[in-house]
Amino acid sequence: MLQTQVLRPDADALQAAAQILRTGGLVAFPTETVYGLGANALDRDAVLSIFAAKGRPADNPLIVHIHDEAQLEGLVELPPLARPLMRRFWPGPLTILMPRTDRIPDAVTAGLETVAIRMPSHPVARRLLQVCELPVAAPSANRSGKPSPTTAAHVLEDMDGRIPLILDGGSCEVGLESTVLDICHGAPCILRPGYVTREELAEVIGPVEVAGSVLRPLAKGEFARSPGMRYRHYAPEGQITLVTGAEADVVEALRRLHRAACAEGRRSCVMCFTEHCAALRDCLPHDIGSRDKPEEAARRLFDTLRTVDDEGMDAIFSEVMPPEGVGLAVMNRLGRAAAFRTVDARIVLQDG
Ligand code: TXA
Ligand code: MG
Repeated sequence: MLQTQVLRPDADALQAAAQILRTGGLVAFPTETVYGLGANALDRDAVLSIFAAKGRPADNPLIVHIHDEAQLEGLVELPPLARPLMRRFWPGPLTILMPRTDRIPDAVTAGLETVAIRMPSHPVARRLLQVCELPVAAPSANRSGKPSPTTAAHVLEDMDGRIPLILDGGSCEVGLESTVLDICHGAPCILRPGYVTREELAEVIGPVEVAGSVLRPLAKGEFARSPGMRYRHYAPEGQITLVTGAEADVVEALRRLHRAACAEGRRSCVMCFTEHCAALRDCLPHDIGSRDKPEEAARRLFDTLRTVDDEGMDAIFSEVMPPEGVGLAVMNRLGRAAAFRTVDARIVLQDG
């Protein structure tokens, strides 16, 4: 077993990290979205070891992280819409699919014709990419099936003994993974919503579609444009149920569902907005942030999912928010964590 070091990202630690990457090893590092598990994107064996460390299916492709646009030379062809998007959103939490050349190993793209590219804005990620002078393939640094890590402690929980180094850059600002945008196949389409919203993208490139599987399960036999959508990600051990309806009804329904679960001997809690924590104080409330600030729910969601697991909860009842702006990304991750299991508050109240 490897000894996993957790280091503050000072100049020495960044040099050590760059050296590990240059010699085919893995380094976990903070980005503005979530922590990534990086390897030299041009080294096939290094890339394969990412899949091994995560327990990730080989058919789920990785995102390549770059420091500057010059690194794209010889790796991809820029689709026509790429330039305005890069100018407006990079560095930042937008990943863009681009047609790739042979220099990108098949292991990175799972054999697809396109490669996902992102230029992160987190200062530690940027310095690491600059010092190592490599394009870095990096999925989120969780074990497959766990929520993406938003702190170095989360990474250590999942990766202790599997990787040599974690750079500790504190908590991630955004908290959910980047927006993944396909501009290679017909109309621009969001494959995975994130902090860069559909509305913001549309201001730059006009109408943008959202992949059907973002807010519902894939239908039987339906083709997933993003391989990541095929897997049940972010799933906690316990069962999450989403409760929809008018505000007052939802609060009362959460209370009743929690009590009923407790009466059945299940360990239960609720995930609710800050505004409702007091009213639900007897229901072990987990505060997901203010009702009007989806960015707060984005920042806290994955940590909350890990917490309810650590607490051994088996029945979790959660509020929902409108799937607009950053709320679309929150509802995508929360929906998938719940396997889209939803109840209507009015029906809960009618049933007494
Ligand atoms: O914010 C992020 O994007 C983080 C940080 C570390 O940068 N990374 C991340 O990587 O979330 P990962 O591997 O956990 O998610 C990558 C997603 C997956 O859903 C994958 O299927 C999709 O991007 N993807 C990657 N390449 C693709 C491609 N060529 N075509 C379609 N989807 C692709
Ligand atoms: Mg991931």
